[in-house]
Amino acid sequence: MSDFPARFKEAVGSGTVLVQAPGIRESVQAFARSVAAGLSDEPKWLHYRFLYDAEGSRLFEEITRQPEYYPTRTEADILAEHAEEIQRLTGPVTLVELGSGYSVKTEYLLSAYSRYDEPVRYVPVDVSGSALLAASRSIAESFSDVDFTGINGTYRSAFPVLRQLSPQMLIFLGSSIGNFNEAETTSFWRSVTDHLPAGDFFLLGVDLVKDADVLEAAYNDAAGVTARFTRNYFARINRELGAALDLTQIEHQAIWNPALERIEIYARFISDQQLHVEPLDQTFEIRGGERIMIEISRKHRLPKLQRELAAFGFDLRHVFSDGKKWFALLLLERTDDAQQRAAYPPATR
Ligand SMILES: C[S@@+](CC[C@H](N)C(=O)[O-])C[C@H]1O[C@@H](n2cnc3c(N)ncnc32)[C@H](O)[C@@H]1O
Repeated sequence: MSDFPARFKEAVGSGTVLVQAPGIRESVQAFARSVAAGLSDEPKWLHYRFLYDAEGSRLFEEITRQPEYYPTRTEADILAEHAEEIQRLTGPVTLVELGSGYSVKTEYLLSAYSRYDEPVRYVPVDVSGSALLAASRSIAESFSDVDFTGINGTYRSAFPVLRQLSPQMLIFLGSSIGNFNEAETTSFWRSVTDHLPAGDFFLLGVDLVKDADVLEAAYNDAAGVTARFTRNYFARINRELGAALDLTQIEHQAIWNPALERIEIYARFISDQQLHVEPLDQTFEIRGGERIMIEISRKHRLPKLQRELAAFGFDLRHVFSDGKKWFALLLLERTDDAQQRAAYPPATR
């Protein structure tokens, strides 16, 4: 039995603290197993979660500052304009953020909430310990009245502690929901529904369907930072799993798939290579010309998304957007309706 909920309960309110969720320390084994699973499949894939080691988190932050990468800038502008209104709509709540990264945009919310609510309780959750640490330092410098309890773990590891944080607003920014395929998205809504108490809020940032040119440019920045981010996956495999891949033979490709309304990010191998996963003593052959999918970024249409969320017991309180309608921030409230609960769509297998 894990003592994580108890350790977490003790940590909340005791100043700036990071708590490790179960499993996060065995990450090399988990990484090896995930890589082996993806490379045993046809076509091959790798799980996007492992893009975010310390270097990956740093590179992602650099991506968000590229001129072509509109999502961060657009979402930040929406937050800057509406953080006060969001605070008025929710009243004082604990701010719990999934996949918080460096928490840069969240500072708009922390500013608004700390104007009315002292101290503001902030619980960021991220697999990247280095990003959480950087966020904790930056927030401690800028805010004297924020009680920071970071969870270094997966989204899933945080669900069991949500009940003890009510009243809260669960925050999921950066259109990170777009990284999930359809089945994963359904399973994520179900988890949020099952763990978020009625009356609590959910703030969801989603990137909307738009021109293919704008989308493809955002994921193929001219400075090549996204390409470095992709290649870092394989540098991490070399570093942590003892492989000896030639990184100069790996290309980044980001392509808009109009049928599935998603950007697909691939690593394309220019020549044949062997990928040895040392912890499992397994070797995989990758052919020249073969592509490995490492990430998707689904883009959304609001009417469909709203229907989906309503079916999982979320009431839409407000949609905030930008002038071009490129990005949307949805403020939802978890409803307490036994009938609705019984009508949740069945779990997908
Ligand atoms: C696309 S970035 C978004 C960062 C930030 N929220 C933003 O909007 O700029 C995704 C973040 O989620 C984290 N992450 C990815 N998969 C995760 C998982 N399964 N559990 C927890 N964190 C995860 C990554 O480390 C990264 O910091």
